[in-house]
Amino acid sequence: MRPVKITENVWWVGVVDWDLRDFHGYETEKGSTYNAYLVKGNDKTVLFDTVKADYTDKFIHNLKQVIDPEKIDYIVSNHSEMDHTGALPEVIKLVKPEKVFMTRKAEEVIKGHFHGLDWPIETVDKTGDLDIGGKTIRFIPTPMLHWPESMASYIPEEGMLISNDIFGQHWATSERYDDEVAQGELYWQAAKYYANIFNGVSNAMKRFLDKLKTETKDLKYLMVDHGLIWRKDIPGILNKYDQWAEQRTGNKAVVVYGTMWGSTGKMARAITSGLVEEGISVKECDLKITHRSDVITEILEAGAVVVGSSVLNKGILPIVGDFLTYMKGLIPRGRIGAAFGSYGWNDGALKVLSETMAEAKMEVLDNPEFANWVPTHDDLKRCFELGKRVGKGLKERL
Ligand code: FEO
Repeated sequence: MRPVKITENVWWVGVVDWDLRDFHGYETEKGSTYNAYLVKGNDKTVLFDTVKADYTDKFIHNLKQVIDPEKIDYIVSNHSEMDHTGALPEVIKLVKPEKVFMTRKAEEVIKGHFHGLDWPIETVDKTGDLDIGGKTIRFIPTPMLHWPESMASYIPEEGMLISNDIFGQHWATSERYDDEVAQGELYWQAAKYYANIFNGVSNAMKRFLDKLKTETKDLKYLMVDHGLIWRKDIPGILNKYDQWAEQRTGNKAVVVYGTMWGSTGKMARAITSGLVEEGISVKECDLKITHRSDVITEILEAGAVVVGSSVLNKGILPIVGDFLTYMKGLIPRGRIGAAFGSYGWNDGALKVLSETMAEAKMEVLDNPEFANWVPTHDDLKRCFELGKRVGKGLKERL
């Protein structure tokens, strides 16, 4: 992809990664982009972020189509994760910038990533303005979004927020703006990004969204580091982020399970029927079929999560353990949780289901449903009743 001119003096100079399929455990089935931006002021020219190391040559090629790299004065590194800084050492060698701006925490991270560097780093510790001639860059630290060192950069004269990972989506497209693509897919990918990257730091996100209201006005562009730039439906994505950050959920439950010989699967279907009987919208996810990162996306707007497993070798199924570890890190707090499963000669292993949901700050119902060997008609009736119990609990909250 060639660079894209956004306004008279601002370009997208990123790269599209059509082939990415995994981002530290998050399935990126539609690839991603690593966005970087070049902003020309009257006095200084600034490059915001770089790309993953594998794409360094492509990135430099893109940059050269807009500017002689040596004419770039400053580099701003909003986020130190390797998908944005992998190319930074080579780019700094080429650009020889006067200054490289980042937070103090980011300097620590960068020095941990790239040993022995000698870059002209200038640290940003609080919200503050930098004049580049006719344009201002307001640095807005965004601690824990989603690393402790992150920040965003706001350019009031352009109404642009260069927002690092915030508002992003892992989606490789030839289009660059939100209004050029299918809205259903755009919002699914934005929700998937929030659920898998930011859900665990929703309190910090809420603080940032409040700060955004005081530090910025007339936002015209949300210039994300992945996916489509928001220029049309900015109110829509801000509303969604408010909802997700506040963990506002609805009349929806997710039944997620792993099954060895089909017994836990039968129980899942009975629980789903009980939920449906109570008028709840349900997503039933067999972990052999549905990737953990899609299940977490379904949980984002769900008020209840019911988790099941078979017992294997005195433990739960590895695929369920994988999911619970992932979910615990993303803290789906406040949702109703319930457990179920099947076992042969010892059900003790299944208590980890409820324990892990409690550790993930969920409100776990007593009396999980466990069936010995293949569930009987009575076992399935009890599962149906568990679904109804979860459904009733959910409706009482709405
Ligand atoms: Fe896009 Fe947190 O890296």
